[in-house]
Amino acid sequence: MPADAAASKSAPPSGRSRDNGVIELVRFLSNPLTYLDALREDGRDVVPFKLGNLPAHLVTKPEYLKLAMFNEDWPPISRGRLMGLSKWYTEGLFLSYGPEHHRQRDDLWKPLFNDPLITDIAVERTRKKADSWVEGRPIELYKELRSHCWAIDWQALTGTDLDAAPDILEALGLGVEALAWLVLPFGPARWNWPLPQSKKTREAKRKLDSVIALMIAERRSRIGADGSGPVPGEDFLTQLVRLADADGSITSDEQVRATFKMWFGADQLHALFTWTLWLLSQNPEVETRWHAELDSVLGDRPVTVDDMRSLPYTIKILHESMRVYPPVWGFFRMMTEDYRLGDTVIPKGHLMGMSPWATHRDPRYWPDPERFDPERWSEGAERPPELSYFPFSAGPYECHGRGLAMKEAVLILATLGQRWAYRPAGPEPKPSATWATEPKKGALMKPVPRV
Ligand code: HEM
Repeated sequence: MPADAAASKSAPPSGRSRDNGVIELVRFLSNPLTYLDALREDGRDVVPFKLGNLPAHLVTKPEYLKLAMFNEDWPPISRGRLMGLSKWYTEGLFLSYGPEHHRQRDDLWKPLFNDPLITDIAVERTRKKADSWVEGRPIELYKELRSHCWAIDWQALTGTDLDAAPDILEALGLGVEALAWLVLPFGPARWNWPLPQSKKTREAKRKLDSVIALMIAERRSRIGADGSGPVPGEDFLTQLVRLADADGSITSDEQVRATFKMWFGADQLHALFTWTLWLLSQNPEVETRWHAELDSVLGDRPVTVDDMRSLPYTIKILHESMRVYPPVWGFFRMMTEDYRLGDTVIPKGHLMGMSPWATHRDPRYWPDPERFDPERWSEGAERPPELSYFPFSAGPYECHGRGLAMKEAVLILATLGQRWAYRPAGPEPKPSATWATEPKKGALMKPVPRV
């Protein structure tokens, strides 16, 4: 079908045309989440719009989302605007596709996800973190938990303490903030502009890259060249260097460095905890029931991965929190060929958007969608169609850290809940779309004793 047959055949129920790319781009940038809400309310299964000179289509129907994300024949998609991230990462999984993507996923990432090192660090550091908080003293949870989760990642990767290196924490923060603008129109160009933010981010990249290069060299001189491959339990960077140096390996130092840096861009747990603690503070009955589960299963002892099966309510809370406030609000692919979804063809060169934010809040699939109700996840509860819930995406580019993320999520949330309850200490946090779903002006909360 020719490209001009692209748009969904039915007329928009709202009667609103979205074909002035400049106006639509301004609307989108002023608040991507309300823009997505409006696209969903349009009511069509594939909603056309334009961002600047780029025609785009938001897929809203679960059946089509499944076709868009994965089917027996891999949809004709490329990573599209994600390639802008090469300014920060240079190489790596986010920037690869096809067999090379699968190789990096299976060789560089998967072995680390299964190493218990990181979950042990997560529990130990979270107990200390919760103990360091003072009753009633407000904390901006989003940034506090982001530094906390990154310190867990950093310790697993290097065996050292990120709290002792505030300049590195700042460099990581600048890099992850840049990911959000690098994927926008003019993002890669902006990297080189003489703007203070661009300049600071370029300097942060130089600094971080040279620190990682030094750490790689230190490991290489320490472990020598036995060519035998990774040793589980060692810090992740040492495992990656051993992998790169193993006999027959085609992994480059640039890929090791990208994997290291990408860990911090991928980890969205801080967003999950911020919104979950906020939702619990607004739903005292859920919170009370949750505390009862923690008390009966754990008491004061440290939680372990084996406890997960005894913490079903904690898991339901996490699922429901990711439904209402999905940490990743949306992602785009670029079509490499015309692709049919029902009676719509998305033409080659157009963007295809998928949004957990839009779909998780769609009343066609989730009645009373803004209500936080962990019971939706109970056994026997009515389930909406597959792919009406996809916080971790699906298909070839789905979150490979999903299993690890769920383990860490249960362990860290349970540890935070064992020690304190959390109450608002400022205005209601408003979600905004950056690299994650971030509270626009932070989320000021205070730890209080549990009742
Ligand atoms: C609540 C926490 C998390 C959420 C909601 C989440 C969600 C996602 C989503 C939606 C994607 C896919 C985006 C797309 O399809 O384009 C993704 C990709 C990815 N995630 Fe996660 N993630 C989380 C935590 C983590 C953690 C802790 C790791 C471990 C480092 C991780 C590693 C990855 C990796 C490596 C990819 C890239 C997949 C690829 O491009 O091939 N994620 N994540």
